[in-house]
Amino acid sequence: MLNLTYRLRGQCIRLKIPEKRVFVPNFVGLFNATQFRIRRGETVADVGTGAGLHAILCAKLGARLVYGIDVSADAVKAARRNARLNGVAGRCRFLQGSFADWLPKLRCRPDLIISTLPNTPGASRLMREPAMRESPLVARFLDGGRDGAELTVDLVKAARHSLAPEGRLHLHLVAWSNSRRTLAALASQGFQVLTLARAHIPLWGQRCNAVRAIRERAQGRPWLVRFADFPRRLEHDVRIVEGRLEAEPRPLPRRPAEAVVEVAL
Ligand SMILES: C[S@@+](CC[C@H](N)C(=O)[O-])C[C@H]1O[C@@H](n2cnc3c(N)ncnc32)[C@H](O)[C@@H]1O
Repeated sequence: MLNLTYRLRGQCIRLKIPEKRVFVPNFVGLFNATQFRIRRGETVADVGTGAGLHAILCAKLGARLVYGIDVSADAVKAARRNARLNGVAGRCRFLQGSFADWLPKLRCRPDLIISTLPNTPGASRLMREPAMRESPLVARFLDGGRDGAELTVDLVKAARHSLAPEGRLHLHLVAWSNSRRTLAALASQGFQVLTLARAHIPLWGQRCNAVRAIRERAQGRPWLVRFADFPRRLEHDVRIVEGRLEAEPRPLPRRPAEAVVEVAL
């Protein structure tokens, strides 16, 4: 069991993660956590919630109700426990199953849907890395189908009909997935696209999860991880000190490789 403490957006979040069975937030997840926009009192659906990081953060940032949806029973169990650990269980509902089944059935239509669904092409080299073989279940949580965009395109279609009026969908587009197809789906569903931020991702951020990086590199001394190989300006610093993660705002990098996108109907 991995015990992590995150400091994000002025909030402290503790997560207990059974790392062989539940996805450990990687760089993309942390980046998303620093970027999505939320207003107090909103209802949120966190699609592909994993250990619950984004759902719990939303609750801590003032969401009235947060649905965390995940196909994995282990993830839902871990997310529920983590919500209790962080004192926000009363405002979180964790649902096991696919977003395709749950989004149309939610009692309250979400003002915001946040997605960190798998978006790695199933046949890519990344999916055959040793770290993936060590955690086959976790590897499955990264497989975004043929071109990496399958699940996200399905989500875009489902979100169109599930969001509250003027609701928003927060997605990230990554270089290794077919973002053109996602953008075409957004356009065809009548979404207006707003780019919030872009970042380079260090190698460990692209890997199946951050466990190995945390174990190898956070050996009791402060470890400063950055969103780029950072010769230039930075968007955020993420610091790991004895298994703790902290993120602080920084200026944008100049040459983006990844976009975090929020869209509005
Ligand atoms: C890359 S992980 C992200 C987990 C977490 N949000 C984070 O950032 O650490 C993707 C998650 O999506 C879940 N998932 C995959 N397909 C799904 C689907 N159709 N509906 C809901 N969740 C799904 C996986 O089980 C996995 O937990």
